[in-house]
Amino acid sequence: MKRFLFSSLLISLTFSSVSFATDKIVGGELVDPAIIETNYIVSIGGGCAGSIISEKWILTAAHCQSIFNKAITGGSVDLKSPKRIKLEVKKSYIHPKNNSRTMSYDFALLELKNHIDFKSTGLGAIALVDPELANNGAIDEGVNATVLGWGTTSENGSISSMLRKVDVPIVGYERANAMTSYNGKIDASMIAAGFDNGKKDSCQGDSGGPFTVVASDGAPLLVGVVSWGQGCARAKYYGIYGNVSVAHPWILETLSK
Ligand code: ARG
Repeated sequence: MKRFLFSSLLISLTFSSVSFATDKIVGGELVDPAIIETNYIVSIGGGCAGSIISEKWILTAAHCQSIFNKAITGGSVDLKSPKRIKLEVKKSYIHPKNNSRTMSYDFALLELKNHIDFKSTGLGAIALVDPELANNGAIDEGVNATVLGWGTTSENGSISSMLRKVDVPIVGYERANAMTSYNGKIDASMIAAGFDNGKKDSCQGDSGGPFTVVASDGAPLLVGVVSWGQGCARAKYYGIYGNVSVAHPWILETLSK
């Protein structure tokens, strides 16, 4: 538990009424390799991603479980880099309330065989949002969040070998549900994010990866796990993320085993 990062700092709420049109995740941009803050993202089997949350644990999506036995690598924005560090899984844990049909509680924890040496590898852990921070506005409607991934850059596009990121505002799940498109499919174990007119989103291959907000000290805080969506970046079909604050008690319990 001590190895586990917490941020007791308040979140600086960034309301994104302005969006910066860049390029491509969908509608995002390339991640600057010099920015060390993205050293917690790992690729899982080339088809999913995950976040390092301590020297021994990765948080990802339950629906990625068929590829948990495939290569897990981190340490470079470039999936093709020979310098990527390989991590081996000892055991995986699926959230007990996970429902693969409804996508409810789409969380999995991967216990690693060996502790990651953050110093020698350059890898790092991202702090989790806890329920208290969530209650204090960390995941309120309008908060600007960032998604990272090697997923496709359009709905039927191909996987990106370079890490990309995109900023999307959080949409309250009640409002997201009220949209005819999702019609009650979003429950409290999920967070919706995106723009009413679409255009920016996570997409296939981004699943399991980090959905973060910026804490007041500038450090990213993991608030969601890429989970599902109807297509990608479609108008009124927001991207849906597993709500990490809801999974927090299970994460603590599993990590203390
Ligand atoms: N289920 C997808 C995956 O396995 C992630 C889809 C996210 N979709 C979205 N529109 N945000 O990679």
